[in-house]
Amino acid sequence: MIVRKTAAELEKMRSSGLLVWQILQKLREMVAEGVSTMDLEMAAEKMMREAGAFPAFKGYYVPAAGEAYKFVLCTSVNSEIVHGMPNPKRMLKKGDIVSIDTGVKLNGYYGDSALTVPVGEISEETRKLLQVTQDSLELAIERVRSGNRLFDVCGAVEDHVKSNGFSIVREYVGHGIGTQLHEEPQVPNYVDRKNENPRLKPGMVLAVEPMVNAGGPEAVVLKDKWTAVTKDGSYSAHFEHCIAVTDNGPWVLTRP
Ligand code: MF3
Ligand code: CO
Repeated sequence: MIVRKTAAELEKMRSSGLLVWQILQKLREMVAEGVSTMDLEMAAEKMMREAGAFPAFKGYYVPAAGEAYKFVLCTSVNSEIVHGMPNPKRMLKKGDIVSIDTGVKLNGYYGDSALTVPVGEISEETRKLLQVTQDSLELAIERVRSGNRLFDVCGAVEDHVKSNGFSIVREYVGHGIGTQLHEEPQVPNYVDRKNENPRLKPGMVLAVEPMVNAGGPEAVVLKDKWTAVTKDGSYSAHFEHCIAVTDNGPWVLTRP
């Protein structure tokens, strides 16, 4: 069942979304050579505490890992796709890209967003990877409209990524969001004809999160049980926003 939110509930989700946006802006500004992914984690946790919000990821049980996640951020560097864990020894260096993914719960409602930040100068190919991934999310956002169907959103990401020669990760997907971090429906970054294709209606909220590899689509999970990396070592980018379906079109809750 896809839960539809009232206008009052969407206002609460807006507050969560804007807090996530603020946190990600601060973290983006912190990213530099010599900063560790644990430095980002500590800054994020402090900002959440000061805002009176709960971290959405810390303590979140993921069946595939068989345990709860231990951090407020996922920090996935270079060939790490998602669920990279903050580490005081993981110093960022020029040419890296770092995906920062975080969520909060505020007033009972979740917000969840991610972006991928370059560290100093990056290669032309990696710049294109970031641009195509970000653009695929924007094209998907445009499709989050009453009367459209879920596959319109998924297909927007898939078409743009494929036509630019990159590959889509299939093991990890976007999701509905509200009083739970993960609600129905699943939002793959490709049209999955085995799934249902519900019509989008006002009050639905989707977290759309393209994960795009520069090389092949295959992902493997490291022995730490969490970090998903590209099998071929190619770089991977990740962007995410929460978008509400409204009578006035898409409302991106996780940015101003
Ligand atoms: N942003 C991811 C998602 O939406 C990460 C959450 S998994 C967690 O599913 F374990 F880190 F919480
Ligand atoms: Co998410």
